[in-house]
Amino acid sequence: MIDVMKKVLAVFGTRPEAIKMCPLVLALKRTRGLECVICLTGQHKEMLAPVMDIFGIREDYNLDIMQPGQTLPSITVNVLNGLDGVLEKEQPDLILVHGDTTTSFTAALAGFYRKIPIGHVEAGLRTYNMHSPYPEEFNRQAVDLVAELYFAPTKQAAQNLLREGKKGENIYITGNTVIDALSLTVRNDYRNENLDWCKDSRLILLTAHRRENLGEPMCHMFRAIKRIIEECPDAKVLYPIHKNPKVRQVAREIFGGVERIRLIEPLDVIDFHNFMAHSYIILTDSGGIQEEAPSLGKPVLVMRDTTERPEGIEAGTLKLVGTSEENIYREMKKLLMDEKAYKDMSKAANPYGDGQASERIVRIIVDYLW
Ligand code: UD1
Ligand code: UDP
Repeated sequence: MIDVMKKVLAVFGTRPEAIKMCPLVLALKRTRGLECVICLTGQHKEMLAPVMDIFGIREDYNLDIMQPGQTLPSITVNVLNGLDGVLEKEQPDLILVHGDTTTSFTAALAGFYRKIPIGHVEAGLRTYNMHSPYPEEFNRQAVDLVAELYFAPTKQAAQNLLREGKKGENIYITGNTVIDALSLTVRNDYRNENLDWCKDSRLILLTAHRRENLGEPMCHMFRAIKRIIEECPDAKVLYPIHKNPKVRQVAREIFGGVERIRLIEPLDVIDFHNFMAHSYIILTDSGGIQEEAPSLGKPVLVMRDTTERPEGIEAGTLKLVGTSEENIYREMKKLLMDEKAYKDMSKAANPYGDGQASERIVRIIVDYLW
């Protein structure tokens, strides 16, 4: 049946997109009759490169657009301009984009302008609040306006798409490819010097980077964490800190000189997943971490007002705690002091799939293209 070669162009640019697209790219590359071309936008640089190395994947193009302190317009314009030349040259049969970044939105728009079908991996996540997360809610809704194939990670994501009037025959529930990645990274015999530093303490793993949290909300989060650490001598914080200079400045100002808080460089994905597996509590405003933690049974306090990942809340592993200092302080204290509250949140669950999402997506793409 597969006698004519077909070409799929995967476009991605940030760390989480790479973590979730690489398992799929590997599965596409194993598929007879399919050529998988990879275009990195370069929205991220140092934070993305280790992911490609770990999965052993080389890009065919890199638009190399990253600038320090980049703005949303600069990312949009540079990706759009750069990608159009790649589309002209490669003429793919399908473009795959992932999630909700400005790379995803702009790549979908570039495909739409050239009338090339778009497949959206991790489609259908919604808060229906355009300002939270910002600009991600716009990005993912905009991708879904022009997508042809919707790879929804969960039933709820598929239902969002159906409610919006997307055609049922174009929506597939596949699970999330991040769970495919997780099954490759967590190891029982993992060792690391930073984990040795925490071995007699309870490890609080922290990440924070969202654009809408830059400035005041981030100050509130960090002050709450500092207060709790000063009160709990058996807790330590590891914070692999995002490369964004605006995040680094606030973190250094508030955490500088606090003995039991370590600011470290971003971890590669193998390290990070193993740090998660060794942590006591995770504090984050990240999206992807909300999907990974339930599989590992790790309680997550989500420092946001909204989430597009209600499944983890329903599973009991995640709790939305907003960005006010008092609330974060209170919720952290509860988890650290109240054993029952901690136990109730430390249940492993798999709402985001069984680790086979990539294989499912490939089968759907093959059926679509031939
Ligand atoms: C982007 C995405 C966000 C996603 C996040 C994942 C948009 C608008 N935002 O946000 O949805 O959750 O990635 O991490 O698409 N930087 C480096 N090196 C890197 C990466 C970033 O130095 O490898 C610095 C640069 O100064 C850059 C800044 O971080 O300008 C911000 O990067 P950007 O991609 O604009 O925003 P993120 O907060 O990373
Ligand atoms: N992650 C990582 N190193 C780190 C912090 C996070 O590899 O130091 C991984 C994490 O396991 C998850 C993804 O990066 O898979 C989440 O990325 P991020 O928080 O940057 O973006 P979001 O998911 O919020 O879009």
